[in-house]
Amino acid sequence: MPKEDINADMQKDSITQALDQVAAEGRNFLDGDATAREKLIASARTLVSVAETPVESLLWNIWALPTRSVAARIAVDLKLFETAVSNNGSPKTNQELAAATGASPTLVKRVTRTCASMKMLDEEGPGRYSPNSLTRLLAQPEYASGIIFCFDAGQPSYAQLPAYLRGTNFQNPENSTDGPFQHGQKYTGHAFGWLMEHPEVFQAFHGYVHALRIHRPSWTDMYPVKKRLVDGLKAEGDASALVDIGGGVGQILQDFYATFPEYGGRLVLQELEEVIGAATAMGVGQSKRIELQMHDFFTPQPIKGARAYFMRSVLHDWPDSQCRKILGHLKDAMEPGYSRILISDCVLADEHAAWQHISLDFFMLALASSQERSEREWRQLIESCGLKVAGIYNEGEGNEGLIEVVLE
Ligand SMILES: C[S@@+](CC[C@H](N)C(=O)[O-])C[C@H]1O[C@@H](n2cnc3c(N)ncnc32)[C@H](O)[C@@H]1O
Repeated sequence: MPKEDINADMQKDSITQALDQVAAEGRNFLDGDATAREKLIASARTLVSVAETPVESLLWNIWALPTRSVAARIAVDLKLFETAVSNNGSPKTNQELAAATGASPTLVKRVTRTCASMKMLDEEGPGRYSPNSLTRLLAQPEYASGIIFCFDAGQPSYAQLPAYLRGTNFQNPENSTDGPFQHGQKYTGHAFGWLMEHPEVFQAFHGYVHALRIHRPSWTDMYPVKKRLVDGLKAEGDASALVDIGGGVGQILQDFYATFPEYGGRLVLQELEEVIGAATAMGVGQSKRIELQMHDFFTPQPIKGARAYFMRSVLHDWPDSQCRKILGHLKDAMEPGYSRILISDCVLADEHAAWQHISLDFFMLALASSQERSEREWRQLIESCGLKVAGIYNEGEGNEGLIEVVLE
């Protein structure tokens, strides 16, 4: 049999298998198995990969994928999503979409058809678009923020990453003040310093971190809060505190209080001066339940013997050497047998890690010379500080886990 026929037969077999898988997962989902949805998506991706030719796959990766993120970023500047949903989402021409900003309709045409090709808009006819559910999501500023932050903060580092790594003979970046981010942005200092100097990107950062959080299981969904934090809580002073370190503008503590009003202790938000300023401006400190405290987590922890020191998406911002300093200050403050550290971050699977975890790991490499960590890497890091992992909690694929840490 000629080689091409053998290849064609093999491809047909793979497509048949992938189709069967899609049909099976789809049926499971429609029959009410909520966990089948992620499997359905994975099977559908496999179907695409076996149906397309290797050259099509290559072009998808080197043409379509980079085009998507830049077109989406331009669409946000052009307010295309907001305009598309206006007037009850009635279909609009490129001229109408362009009118909102005075942009050239020819340029808008090139952006809208790219957005439509990636399902960010629906194409109703030549040069005519209507919004879909993704358009409606992106029309909300906090979701558009994700596009702004990831593009403006991340893309310059990505564009320069191969050249940067060639220059280091491909060493794993571990210096958060002299790494790919600084090389790409032509900046000296940590990425957080750059963010402070770019308030619109910093605002986008906080908006999107919050927006994404509400779509994923919360740490309180997986951690036995009542048993571990509420029961046995000392009623007063530092010992009663749940301290959210690097807690952004306080949404996590607000959610915690709404979910566990029976937690009678202090709720303390620790952050950098600029972020405490933003939280104050948002009225977070007016809530008697949340205390705002300026604190740099590279300095000794002022609240001693707290019930819990919580950190979400904090340690993934830092390479191991700096995580050890942060954890070291907490270790010094903890009361044996009572205090715990709660780390809400990704816990990567050793194989077939979720695409969300893998992409975020690469993003952290480029942005902060840091990383997402597997269970083994978390244990090594925590044990190297003389601390002990008491439990690791996870819910669903690609979400953040919760790591409970105690003194040995
Ligand atoms: C990825 S954000 C996470 C924010 C929040 N925990 C959340 O999940 O929404 C990391 C936070 O660490 C804060 N941060 C960075 N360096 C810090 C430092 N040296 N001391 C205290 N907070 C710091 C930043 O301001 C930022 O809000």
